[in-house]
Amino acid sequence: QGPETVSATGERSGADQDVRAQRGSFLTTSQGARIRDTDHSLKAGPRGPTLLQDHHLREKITHFDHERIPERVVHARGAAAHGVFESYGNAANLTCAKFLAEKTTVPVFTRFSTVVGSRGSADAVRDTRGFATKMYTDEGTFDLVGNNIPVFFIQDGIKFPDIVHAAKPHPDREIPQAQSAHDTFWDFVSLHTEAQAHVMWQMSDRAIPRSYRTMEGFGVHTFRLVNAEGQSSLVKFHWKPKLGVHSVLWEEAQLINGADPDFHRRDLADAIEAGAYPQWELGVQVFPDTDEEVFAGIDLLDPTKIVPEELAPVKPIGMLTLNANPKNYFAETEQVAFHPGHLVPGIEVTNDPLLQARLFSYIDTQITRLGGPNFSQIPINRPHAPVNDMLRDGFHQSAVHTGVAPYRPNSLDGGCPFHAGDGQAALIDFPEAVQEAVKLRESPASFEDHYSQVTQFFRSLMPAEQDHVIQAYTFELGKCFEPAIRERQLQRLANIDADLCAAVATGLGMTAPDPEQPPRDSEPSPALSQIGGTWPVD
Ligand code: HEM
Repeated sequence: QGPETVSATGERSGADQDVRAQRGSFLTTSQGARIRDTDHSLKAGPRGPTLLQDHHLREKITHFDHERIPERVVHARGAAAHGVFESYGNAANLTCAKFLAEKTTVPVFTRFSTVVGSRGSADAVRDTRGFATKMYTDEGTFDLVGNNIPVFFIQDGIKFPDIVHAAKPHPDREIPQAQSAHDTFWDFVSLHTEAQAHVMWQMSDRAIPRSYRTMEGFGVHTFRLVNAEGQSSLVKFHWKPKLGVHSVLWEEAQLINGADPDFHRRDLADAIEAGAYPQWELGVQVFPDTDEEVFAGIDLLDPTKIVPEELAPVKPIGMLTLNANPKNYFAETEQVAFHPGHLVPGIEVTNDPLLQARLFSYIDTQITRLGGPNFSQIPINRPHAPVNDMLRDGFHQSAVHTGVAPYRPNSLDGGCPFHAGDGQAALIDFPEAVQEAVKLRESPASFEDHYSQVTQFFRSLMPAEQDHVIQAYTFELGKCFEPAIRERQLQRLANIDADLCAAVATGLGMTAPDPEQPPRDSEPSPALSQIGGTWPVD
């Protein structure tokens, strides 16, 4: 295939790729000149010094010197696959996004990841998993950048660098927390009660999946869908694996990581190669879009909360099938750039303060990671919809823009109306009342209940699952060397469940504290305490 094509109006075609098969009877330089010998450098005599004029030597080594790019600051280790998303065509009442409103199929690329480990770390660690899907629709690319845990550590994105600093390897020895001191992690989560919900999920079996193929995925935040009549709904996205949810035990994970640190990547690639294509059903929980953005007493803008499925069932709207492995890990899996702001007409973000910070963070980090502002031209990132933007130049510009007037309005390059205006949907900015427009560094009072859902999650687990949670807290806190931090986290557990706290305290050889009355930072919501039943699926 030839290089990217550029139309007279500057539109780029996303389909073409510069595929270079590694075959042929001769090698060339990067400029296409044939090389006689790639095994010996050019020297002054067989034992002589190497000559500076050996361009092939210098090109080969210089390129090699620059083969690595920075790993992702989080989610560095991952595995990915190509596939298709087939919508059921039953969501037109919710959204005008064509790929959901109509029965249709779009190509996708999905990357799974751990969060904390470096690119070379092991797969079967106790961690949250990323579940990011790029859908190349003909109305633009939609990225659903989610996790396998439905709640997040923090409620405001300004805390993200802090939690990541606390969870990454200790700065002095750079030894991952999974293998040495856990003090910074437990210091952070015991001081930030809002983190208790996410941590309970991390201490549960969900944090050591059997396979990427047996994980759920969650958009976590509440998003806004807008239909063709301009009516809006609030939704939470869910991926449900056809194979069900399966985990391994901690002891199994230790053996797996020793025997095969690539366990999850291998499993995904092998399954796809064998034709056992993994599938996930996409579903949405739908809530009325009210000014309060609260459902059953749960603030929909609080990313540390779920809405139990008994209260809002998940409505299936399509099926994801991963059916092809990447041809090249670096070109595709490493260079793919997801962004929660990659939206299409009919899908919008909400004011969740965690989501709002993410909208800034991803493109910013990718400009460094992928070497400048033009990474959307890398084949894996190219939209399959026609592109006609006014972005120009910059590092690694590979499009050849024609025309002289990349600004609007202009009177020189005609023929490109500014507005969509031709019956095609355009991105929507749903008019939304801005409440209390006062500059504040505060969270709403409705974000203050940090415990009741955590208690409910723990109590909804089967006895064997509860034992695993107790063992996980005991093991992980046992690696925390600072007694004051262990005591503080035991206090948090006392606020969650007295039996859990007592069991962990016994395991640590400590005394279980009494719960705080009322728990600090906690104001259980009446609606939540009335909810019973299973949690949150199956
Ligand atoms: C990756 C920031 C919260 C899911 C990343 C990356 C950054 C980042 C900088 C690396 C991106 C790259 O180099 O391409 C943040 C910030 C957050 C946040 C600032 C909070 C304010 C979340 C949440 C989720 C999430 C809540 C899940 C709902 C992911 C995933 C990836 C990722 C799945 C990996 C994408 C891939 O596979 O390339 N995040 N993140 N992040 N984040 Fe977040």
